Amino acid sequence: MNRLNYLGRLLKHIFTARHTLGFGVHSPYIFCFTRFVLYEKNPFYVYAEIERLRRELENDRRVLQVTDFGTGKNRQSSVASIARKSLNSSKYGQLLFRMVREAKPAVILELGTSLGISTAYMAMACTHAKCYTVEGCPQIASIASDNFLKFGLDNVRLRRMNIDEGLVPLLTEIERPDFVFIDANHTSDALLRYFEIIMSKVHNDMVIVIDDINWSDDMQEAWQQIKRHPNVINSLDIFGFGILFFNPERNKMHYKMIF
Ligand SMILES: C[S@@+](CC[C@H](N)C(=O)[O-])C[C@H]1O[C@@H](n2cnc3c(N)ncnc32)[C@H](O)[C@@H]1O
Repeated sequence: MNRLNYLGRLLKHIFTARHTLGFGVHSPYIFCFTRFVLYEKNPFYVYAEIERLRRELENDRRVLQVTDFGTGKNRQSSVASIARKSLNSSKYGQLLFRMVREAKPAVILELGTSLGISTAYMAMACTHAKCYTVEGCPQIASIASDNFLKFGLDNVRLRRMNIDEGLVPLLTEIERPDFVFIDANHTSDALLRYFEIIMSKVHNDMVIVIDDINWSDDMQEAWQQIKRHPNVINSLDIFGFGILFFNPERNKMHYKMIF
């Protein structure tokens, strides 16, 4: 990531996005979503529990062999460094919690588990949903698995595999994912491939959340292309996440918002 370009995209977002609690949003669905999900401030009891685990991970000095899916090579990294650099912040994790709580999906699919913090937010929001999560790095996956045990999350199905090879077969098994969170390889090439594969399962109530759509110009270009997909009815760019809805009974609307 080029920090200067990132800052430029952030400033552009701030100046072009809506600074609103939902007022001025013409879609009734998106209005309710912004008022009661996006900007909901209620501190749910699980937030503190998950953030306690995040702090433990941020101080965990164990060193792991980490697989880099870009180069295929291994490097060493501490759990603490992964927890500090690779995970979604509490603010975005908690938004996932509220979104899942509101959507009540039967099946959640996450691409990119890492240490399992975002998975925990989603799986705890709807404990009777089956939550499939995919992590390709074996040592990272094994820490995530321990974390799911600590929380007693028996609705999580952790798949240790490369998404590039495993996503198509996984989707034949899952059949109807309702809530999808894409947070793995941050390149347009991978994102567009995963998105196209997931679109083979699209239905009216599906929600897709894409992490880091403003990470790079490359990711932003992929987001612009995704928004134009004929099945996308509503999109929300909240800078850190891109959120997609597919219900054709609503008016097509695309929004950029401050979160
Ligand atoms: C940004 S981290 C996920 C963070 C996590 N969702 C959170 O917020 O708590 C991305 C993860 O995706 C994994 N990953 C990247 N490319 C992958 C691939 N092709 N197959 C499987 N896992 C992959 C990486 O090993 C890394 O742990």
